[in-house]
Amino acid sequence: MLHHILLQTPIPRDLPLPLPLPHSVLVVLLVVSFLLHILFVNLMVGGSILTLWSQIKGLRKPEYDTLAHEIAETITVNKSLAVVLGVAPLLSINTLYTVYFYSANALTGIFWIAIIPLVTVAFLLTYAHKYSWKVLGSNKALHISIMGLAVLIFLFIPLIFLVNINLMLFPEKWNTITGFAEALTLPNVFPRYLHFLLASLGTTGLFICWYFGRKTYHFEEHFQELTRYEIRKKAYSLTFGASAAQFLIGPVVLLTLPTKGMSWHLLLTIGTGAVVAIPALYLIWKEITGKPESLGKNFWKITALLLTTVTFMGSGRHLYRAVALEPHQKLMAAKTANFQKEVKKATEEALLNPPKQTSVADAGEAVFQSKCSACHAAEVKVVGPPIKEMVAIYKGNPKGLHDWILKPGKKRPDYPQMPALGLSEQEIQDVAKFILKQ
Ligand code: HEC
Repeated sequence: MLHHILLQTPIPRDLPLPLPLPHSVLVVLLVVSFLLHILFVNLMVGGSILTLWSQIKGLRKPEYDTLAHEIAETITVNKSLAVVLGVAPLLSINTLYTVYFYSANALTGIFWIAIIPLVTVAFLLTYAHKYSWKVLGSNKALHISIMGLAVLIFLFIPLIFLVNINLMLFPEKWNTITGFAEALTLPNVFPRYLHFLLASLGTTGLFICWYFGRKTYHFEEHFQELTRYEIRKKAYSLTFGASAAQFLIGPVVLLTLPTKGMSWHLLLTIGTGAVVAIPALYLIWKEITGKPESLGKNFWKITALLLTTVTFMGSGRHLYRAVALEPHQKLMAAKTANFQKEVKKATEEALLNPPKQTSVADAGEAVFQSKCSACHAAEVKVVGPPIKEMVAIYKGNPKGLHDWILKPGKKRPDYPQMPALGLSEQEIQDVAKFILKQ
């Protein structure tokens, strides 16, 4: 079975270039910088979903419109941080997994490229939304639609990333996957996407709880009816609900992962992450159900625990990738080494026996090289038939050959038409002579 899969798996050659940093440093950089990046992506996605929700709710209860405005203020900042922090993981994955990353990029083609215009549009929409609060005050439908569109795009972009990052793990699928839509059907994509969405909501809940709990945030200047406690409790509840749901989705993600990357090390890492989340959930629950004054008491403890969970999950993610790709990386390394050996051998041979100076003494050969060789070779079909075939047809008939070159016809149904090349009479005679001499 494995053998069968490997037979169908494309094994490209790697770029024989040294890494710019030691391998382990790049791995740490990849894991850490990705976690930082995804944290702000979570806040950007979660923040825009909450803004939309709150603004719709604000149609009936105006203070929620104010709440939406306050959250919207944070989206653009978090978005900028997400983008800036995205550079390091992108560069690290490029250097560590060049061939895998680019193969997946190429296969998801237009969707992968579409990330750039989509991101641009979504960012512009969030700014337009933020700065048109007053101007569009009387046209809430339009104002909310702007955020709605931004949310849709924000929800779609991570899916493209995920599909791509997922596809790079499965070289054995590269021969059969022909685009984004098909890559979407790989087993793990949707559970992982849901896992990401829940993480976005959970992280954003924690963020909102902190944001509105700051001493420097003058809550009463913005809100009269809503209380700090109410909002923070709601935010906490969101984190609680989303994190609890991860205990259902997490196992689905794990079970739908193709087994090739599984290891005890991975299970242990992910298991530890999940276990650490339990006291965090317990503390949140205690705060939600406890006295209003003590809400937020354990905030930093909870945050530290959940960050630990996320770090374990992020490391697990890397472990899976490393194990899943190892056999293929070995094959690729062997192929690359073999290629380099052949190059070396050929170079040495060429140095030992320099090719004879191919002075093109023959005028016909010169014409052939410059005008015909793009489409014709000696023995094999290129665009047109080989010289061998021409000789077979025109042996003893130089005039026929001359006439064809002067005014090529259309003969073979499975070939394109040969163009007339505008040679001089002398050139035609020379090249015809050269051909018939072969
Ligand atoms: C742009 C590609 C192209 C170039 C350049 C080109 N050929 Fe061709 N040639 C073809 C194709 C395609 C055919 C087959 C056409 C067909 O069968 O309809 C062909 C067919 C021929 C044949 C076979 C004619 C036959 O009777 O079957 C000869 C001879 C030939 N080319 C000579 C030449 C020579 C000589 C030159 C250079 C001066 C040349 N070609 C340049 C594409 C090219």
